[in-house]
Amino acid sequence: MLKNNAKKAAITAASAASLGLLLLVLTVQLRRVQVDEVTRVEEPASAQGKTGFSAYFTKLTRGRREAVRPARSAGSAPPPPAEDITADDVFIAVKTTKKFHRSRLSLLLDTWISRNKQQTYIFTDGEDEELKKKMGSHAVNTNCSAAHSRQALSCKMAVEYDKFIESGKKWFCHVDDDNYVNVRTLVKQLSQYPHTQDMYIGKPSLDRPIEATERLGDNKMKPVNFWFATGGAGFCVSRGLALKMSPWASGGHFMNTAEKIRLPDDCTVGYIIESVLGVPLTRSNLFHSHLENLQLVSRSEIHKQITLSYGMFENKSNIINLKGAFSVEEDPSRFRSVHCLLYPDTPWCPPQVAY
Ligand SMILES: *[C@@H]1O[C@H](CO)[C@@H](O)[C@H](O)[C@H]1NC(C)=O
Ligand SMILES: *[C@@H]1O[C@H](CO)[C@@H](O)[C@H](O)[C@H]1NC(C)=O
Repeated sequence: MLKNNAKKAAITAASAASLGLLLLVLTVQLRRVQVDEVTRVEEPASAQGKTGFSAYFTKLTRGRREAVRPARSAGSAPPPPAEDITADDVFIAVKTTKKFHRSRLSLLLDTWISRNKQQTYIFTDGEDEELKKKMGSHAVNTNCSAAHSRQALSCKMAVEYDKFIESGKKWFCHVDDDNYVNVRTLVKQLSQYPHTQDMYIGKPSLDRPIEATERLGDNKMKPVNFWFATGGAGFCVSRGLALKMSPWASGGHFMNTAEKIRLPDDCTVGYIIESVLGVPLTRSNLFHSHLENLQLVSRSEIHKQITLSYGMFENKSNIINLKGAFSVEEDPSRFRSVHCLLYPDTPWCPPQVAY
């Protein structure tokens, strides 16, 4: 049997490899992109005179600038809320798989979920009596395959979508089982937009739009390009927009849509929203995945972040740099220390001292 470390390393290596492969595919596809496709999105006057690659790269550069620009909400004077919402108006879907119930999910249940049981729903692929006891009907067995395949992931996203619509809540947020969600900041951020407006908020993992091929009927293919928010950092969709997604996302349609463009679940969400419905992704740098350097999140900024993450790879951990309540040995993900920083009144947090 593989040791735990080796398993983790293998999983991380596999994800890194698939990201690399994705980028390679993108690069190849970039070469054969058509002018009419690349100018689909609004072009500024400066780029309009240019054609082909020149215009395309202008757009890419602009996209990259936008991607790294700090979110406006991180400033010191946040705009007044557009809508008075509470945590109860948000539906937080946590995607997990049975083999991570003990290692990953229990950490979340002990930390941020413990304060937000009413708005958190766990989407998994196996029965777990202990989880049911803790979360009741909020522990959802999707009956999807436990494989990390495109189909299995899309299957879970489809169930998340349907459960959200059923819930009647105002905002849909999706996170992975290695995300810490700072619900207070999330609610503050979402309250800046009316939930009836078309809103898709998250952080792109690529510095340019993804190039995909849409499979039409009668064996025809059509190249499409769009931005998507990386699922591993978490993203949110307003109810107004989610309802418009229904023909491509509800019931079994999400899986059909994912098959049509042959991309993973988070890309499919971006495809439906940006490419089909024409609603642009609103970028936020307050969402964080394990694919970025988490050391760059400083202690004084932690309370402003919406999601955090952690990753381990070949004994090197990618974690936020926090001297907190617990040592790295006691708290390798740093999530317990983050939780004690945000909620020092938690019973298992050590009495407050100057860390
Ligand atoms: C999964 O299967 C069980 C047993 O058949 C069923 O009760 C449950 O509703 C199914 N879950 C979903 C999300 O369809
Ligand atoms: C990780 O570190 C431990 C002890 O520090 C060592 O035994 C092990 O071989 C290392 N593993 C890898 C993948 O480097």
